[in-house]
Amino acid sequence: MIRLLVNFLEFILKTFYQDRWYARFYVLETIARVPGFAYISVLHLYESLGAWPYTDWIKVHFAESWNELHHLRIIEALGGGKCWSDRMIARIGVLGYYWILVFVYMIAPKSAYYFNQLVEEGAYHTYEKFLTEHEAELKTQPAPQVAIDYYHKGDLYMFDEFQISHTPRERRPKIENLYDVFVAIRNDEREHITTMIACQQPNAKENIKSPHSPEFNPSSDES
Ligand SMILES: [Fe+2]
Ligand SMILES: [Fe+2]
Repeated sequence: MIRLLVNFLEFILKTFYQDRWYARFYVLETIARVPGFAYISVLHLYESLGAWPYTDWIKVHFAESWNELHHLRIIEALGGGKCWSDRMIARIGVLGYYWILVFVYMIAPKSAYYFNQLVEEGAYHTYEKFLTEHEAELKTQPAPQVAIDYYHKGDLYMFDEFQISHTPRERRPKIENLYDVFVAIRNDEREHITTMIACQQPNAKENIKSPHSPEFNPSSDES
């Protein structure tokens, strides 16, 4: 049922945007920030009420939404979101998706994670297709400064924080052109899939740790 719904939403997005890749990515990445925000909202409330001692989850989900935010900034730098109708579609999507996910997460957290696992898988395959079809032209274009700053310069704490299958500083994507940027984004989506799957496992509460935690043990679930 959930898979059917996600497939239907992906079909609508694909049909509507067709070859307007950056507009499609803009909508996708704007909405992609929502799950982390929804999970944090609920977990923060539980934690404040003394019912959720697993605070590393809040850190990891925030780092995921921070990662999606930088995907969005990169797509904006490439011209995504210039059209008012794309911004409107994305913002309406955010409003609906946020409240639906908060509600689902409160009553069935595994379903909320499974839903987002499917969305992340869709994002991964969309970027994969884009890379395959546009490899040559992407390799001739420069990487946007925001991508260089996020993946190479400055404080990479948040970049390491969302990747529960890697120890900090283990993954440093090569960013020499626009192709490399989309490879990095695609691989980030793979990390999101890994985390969503890990969050559905029986011992997830105890096992999911911040990569910066002394108790961190990288997930072997490489999807
Ligand atoms: Fe993303
Ligand atoms: Fe993602």
